Amino acid sequence: MPALVVVGAQWGDEGKGKIVHFLGRGADWVVRYQGGDNAGHTVVFDGQKYALHLIPSGILQPGVKNVVGDGVVVNPLAFEGEVRMLERRGIKVRGRLFLSLSAHVILPTHVYLDTLREEGGRGIGTTKKGIGPCYEDKVARIGIRVADYLDASSFRKLVRQSLKVRAAELTKVKPLKKIEAEVFAGYEARRRFLARFAADTGLLLDAARRKGARILLESAQGSMLDLDHGTYPFVTSSNPVAGGACVGAGVGPTTIGAVNGVTKAYTTRVGLGPFPTEVEGHLARYIREVGKEYGVTTGRPRRIGWLDLPQLRAAIRMNGLTSLTMTKLDTLSGVHPIKVCVGYRLRGKKIAEFPIARRDQLDVLPVYESFAGFSGDLKDARKFSDLPLGAREYVLAVERKLGVPILIVSVGQSREQTIVRDAKALWG
Ligand code: GDP
Ligand code: IMO
Ligand code: MG
Repeated sequence: MPALVVVGAQWGDEGKGKIVHFLGRGADWVVRYQGGDNAGHTVVFDGQKYALHLIPSGILQPGVKNVVGDGVVVNPLAFEGEVRMLERRGIKVRGRLFLSLSAHVILPTHVYLDTLREEGGRGIGTTKKGIGPCYEDKVARIGIRVADYLDASSFRKLVRQSLKVRAAELTKVKPLKKIEAEVFAGYEARRRFLARFAADTGLLLDAARRKGARILLESAQGSMLDLDHGTYPFVTSSNPVAGGACVGAGVGPTTIGAVNGVTKAYTTRVGLGPFPTEVEGHLARYIREVGKEYGVTTGRPRRIGWLDLPQLRAAIRMNGLTSLTMTKLDTLSGVHPIKVCVGYRLRGKKIAEFPIARRDQLDVLPVYESFAGFSGDLKDARKFSDLPLGAREYVLAVERKLGVPILIVSVGQSREQTIVRDAKALWG
């Protein structure tokens, strides 16, 4: 059975957690393949609400096995905290959650460096979780992997090496000796905790694949935050795009059969950087309040904008999307008119594609098409035909313009508030 990748098609927070949890019912394995606890995935079902940062949303589906993959950066504290939170809430985790021995470990040093840079005038609005500095160490070949973390003597040696390399910056925060003590505080207990989950996850997934298991690969962040394909430098330090799923899960491209991109019915972004369709004022405040658009990880208000078709076309291209999910259609109820960006003007010239140069990304002016909009409560719609005519027209017009089927439409936070238009087509 080919694997399905679920990827954020915008700047993150599209509702990936809800959709992965929903689709997880039909999966045997769910794998997170990049990012770390910078992510915040909200899952709501049976009146319960969970905020997951590191552990795949498949953990909330009984029986589904979950992997934190090779490409993820793992803060042991966050990992332990999340496992304990789930266990406290009655979710069976042990035996169903596997942590890659190849994943890199986030230490307090990375968090200090992230914060220092953010507050030192070179910030891009990161989550300050140490994500960028950890990936930097990985690329610089001085990173510490879970396998190293589990080996006390390797770990001690590698920490001292890392402190030495980053000393010039770290001593601006506090004396190195103090930082070193913080890195080692509670290490032994945490090492034992992590050891229970650590595994060669590439082997596990390969065995599952050979048996015909259904594997769902879950991205964190979104396509426009991709290090290579996003709005650089206002991006995260990993590859959320579907190609990153192979690298970050340790599976080959031939494993993947389909890619679903999750987009909101409008656009949001947290952190700094270009956002061509951003709106401010009353409308932004209205959508932010109705859609509860505040970051799950940092609590920051999300920036709000209209749906941006050139941006989504770029996401379709860079991910090879075979289908789309549109979330939060309910939030646009009562908004008249609804605008959709169909192209841009750049210094007087019409352009159709999302530009690459940073100045152009800031300077483009959206060209809009307007839709009358729709009213009423969408939250009880369970079939596409239950939706008001204006809502259906909006979805179908976006689908036509993008040329990719919108197979799932989401009309509320909760699992059952989901309309599947063609279940068979999803997995390819
Ligand atoms: P993720 O990071 O992509 O998993 O998305 P987040 O969980 O950070 O943000 C999406 C928010 O929208 C969460 O609060 C979800 O519960 C909520 N959500 C998802 N789909 C819908 C929907 O169709 N309607 C509404 N009203 N909320 C939704
Ligand atoms: P989920 O998985 C939205 C943003 C940050 C910042 C940039 C870099 O919930 O969709 P980082 O801490 O990664 O170095 O910050 O990326 N960012 C997100 N925005 N959703 C996320 O995750 C994000 N994770 C990081 O706001 O602009
Ligand atoms: Mg989120």
